[in-house]
Amino acid sequence: VPTASLPLPWLDRSGRVSPLKAATFALCLMPGIVVAVGWSLNALGPKPVTAAIHETGEWAVRFLLLSLAVTPFRFIADAPKLILVRRMLGLTVLAYAVAHLLLYSLDLAFDLKRIATEIVLRIYLTIGFVALIGLAVLGATSTDAAVRRLGGAWHTLHRLVYGIAVLALIHFFLQSKLDVSEAAITAGLFLLLMIYRAQRRAGFALKPLPLLVAALLGGALTALLEAGWYTARNGASVLAVLGANLEGPFEAVADLRPAQWVLLAGLAVVAVKLARPRRGRDEAGRAARVARGDKLARVG
Ligand code: HEM
Repeated sequence: VPTASLPLPWLDRSGRVSPLKAATFALCLMPGIVVAVGWSLNALGPKPVTAAIHETGEWAVRFLLLSLAVTPFRFIADAPKLILVRRMLGLTVLAYAVAHLLLYSLDLAFDLKRIATEIVLRIYLTIGFVALIGLAVLGATSTDAAVRRLGGAWHTLHRLVYGIAVLALIHFFLQSKLDVSEAAITAGLFLLLMIYRAQRRAGFALKPLPLLVAALLGGALTALLEAGWYTARNGASVLAVLGANLEGPFEAVADLRPAQWVLLAGLAVVAVKLARPRRGRDEAGRAARVARGDKLARVG
């Protein structure tokens, strides 16, 4: 039945309006609307297409991080029903990435030969292209029917998302000019999410202490990544770049180093955990009930 495989984004499986899904859908549309309105009002600066390419690229990666954050946050924030919005977040990544490629094609006047040549010859574009193909594969296999058909293989296939995220981050770093701060913050947040995942796999429940360790480790790895990049790319001194993380006081939040942003994000997660300790119910059981879309999935 078409409605079963393509439900309206704000409805849950039982056909009722889900405030969580409705709010997430609005969040997914918002950046696109802001860019479209900015474009129509000539507010995107002298090069609107370039500005829109950058915005769509950045939002694609941000939604990618959000979709990867769903699983850890179900446990950290004791919010199992977050699973209801994971597919929507994932498809949003694909939508922004496709818009990104279309805008790039528009920039080259849809000259397919030139677009293909550029993608083949510029390594950062080749990497972006491979990431986009990967996203398309995940999108095409995200319907209920595909999930059923693939069975266990679905999980194996969708683990590709981690590789896709790494490719997207490399693309982000390589296209950055002198300043890689934004790419480094994004990569650092990805590392933080991977640390949570590793901790759960190693059998640690995501309680305040492991989360604090993750925040410190995430910050440290981000500092090393940033210093490594500047050293390899510009011949900067590792110690000088690392030392910048210890400088202060800062006049504005914009002066914060990527590692400090990641550390703060990690500490905010610890605060979330302290504010929402688990209510002690069986995690797996609750998750199973939510998957069935029962009453629990519809509250709030
Ligand atoms: C065929 C596929 C792709 C093409 C042709 C492409 C092209 C581009 C171009 C031309 C830029 C701007 C470079 C510059 O101004 O010097 C860019 C930046 C970017 N792209 Fe892509 N891209 C592709 C795929 C992707 C994918 C799949 C993602 C994420 C999932 C992505 C995320 C980004 C990000 C985050 C930026 C940086 C934006 C910023 O710094 O503001 N791209 N891409």
